Amino acid sequence: MAESNTDTKSSNQMWGGRFASGPDAIMEEINASIGFDKKLFAQDIRGSIAHATMLAHQGIISAEDKDKIVHGLNTILSEIESGNFEFSRRLEDIHMNIEARLATLIGPAAGRLHTARSRNDQVALDFRLWVKEELEKTEKMLTGLIAAFLDRAEEHAESVMPGFTHLQTAQPVTFGHHCMAYVEMFGRDRSRVRHAIEHLDESPIGAAALAGTGYPIDRHMTAKALGFREPTRNSIDTVSDRDFAIEFLAIAAITGMHLSRLAEEIVIWSTPQFGFVRLSDAFSTGSSIMPQKKNPDAAELVRAKTGRINGSLIALLTIMKGLPLAYSKDMQEDKEQVFDAAESLELAIAAMTGMVRDMTVNTARMKAAAGSGFSTATDLADWLVREAGLPFRDAHHVTGRAVALAESKGCDLAELPLADLQAIHPDITDKVYDVLTVEASVASRKSFGGTAPSEVRKQIAFWRARN
Ligand code: ARG
Repeated sequence: MAESNTDTKSSNQMWGGRFASGPDAIMEEINASIGFDKKLFAQDIRGSIAHATMLAHQGIISAEDKDKIVHGLNTILSEIESGNFEFSRRLEDIHMNIEARLATLIGPAAGRLHTARSRNDQVALDFRLWVKEELEKTEKMLTGLIAAFLDRAEEHAESVMPGFTHLQTAQPVTFGHHCMAYVEMFGRDRSRVRHAIEHLDESPIGAAALAGTGYPIDRHMTAKALGFREPTRNSIDTVSDRDFAIEFLAIAAITGMHLSRLAEEIVIWSTPQFGFVRLSDAFSTGSSIMPQKKNPDAAELVRAKTGRINGSLIALLTIMKGLPLAYSKDMQEDKEQVFDAAESLELAIAAMTGMVRDMTVNTARMKAAAGSGFSTATDLADWLVREAGLPFRDAHHVTGRAVALAESKGCDLAELPLADLQAIHPDITDKVYDVLTVEASVASRKSFGGTAPSEVRKQIAFWRARN
């Protein structure tokens, strides 16, 4: 650790022309991580207390020194929590900031804490603990978002809306069914979160620099004390692995992509042209020049945050891809990506949960739109198959002619007179009108996972039992 005060040095004569300060200051600036890794203070202290306790239990340090260390660390914890801790960039990172303060507080006993440990396994531990907590928080937030969708789905199990493919009206569906599609998506995200917690649930401490240690440590004891399932099994992998951070970012990116699709739908649905939903004032803003406007800013920002999260995933994958085993300082760049993505993801989930709960659903607009665009054409074709015994391909052709006729007359399929329909196919009877309404259309789609209200209610019950 460079102790010289570099600000008094002049810059290097050969290459330092553009630098105001000397090379040591530049080194300090590029090397220091305290600006962001101070976030890990609680994890660092927890890890150190578990490590010191184990060292004493194994007879590697005295019980007296352990007590001093633990007491000192707890003092530091309250100093940091109450904002009475002075972080120093000269001390590089959170680990050395805490250790230096410990030495000031308890004297030489502080020097025994780092026995059988390196900053390499220390940072791997602190960061894993942080990511684990963040994953647990994400799991809870996703549960909240799923609950919001379940409530809206229940309320709108019968509300008809147009279903889209290519953003063109396809077939009528229920709004409840559409909400349940998001329940499936966020349910998958949540199970990815749970798997990631299982994957990272191994304790790195005790891997030391990379090769393990000659001290008779007990890694199972520290693993248990820190709430991990077991210790990691390979000390080299332990200090060079950042899969847990990459997995967090990958999950954040996939979840972000889902949130962004939802945000996009809300942006579209809340336009005056669609008018399917009205956002609450809490999640929209007015325009400074156009008084009539209500802009879906929160949804737009959620859509944008996804880009940022994707960037973090690609950044960390790129940071890691060329690193030889084991630790390299490149890995210090892992934290900002994860911290930034975590903050964006939390905000995005919270904003979407609020929007889903608060938005007013305009069922009349949805129903009107559901009936336009010949959305029950498939129902006509299916009727011809079922009632008139036509092969589906022929029924499709007959229906196409009926759609063309309705289009040329400027009316809906249900508004075509029976004579017109019979001119297209003589077996059509007035019974056909029963299937041409949107309600009949959705009620008929009772296949497992289909849009019929009875099916949607089954899906809701399934998820309620799991949420
Ligand atoms: N601040 C460092 C990081 O975040 C801690 C580990 C330093 N290890 C080392 N061998 N220099 O990666």
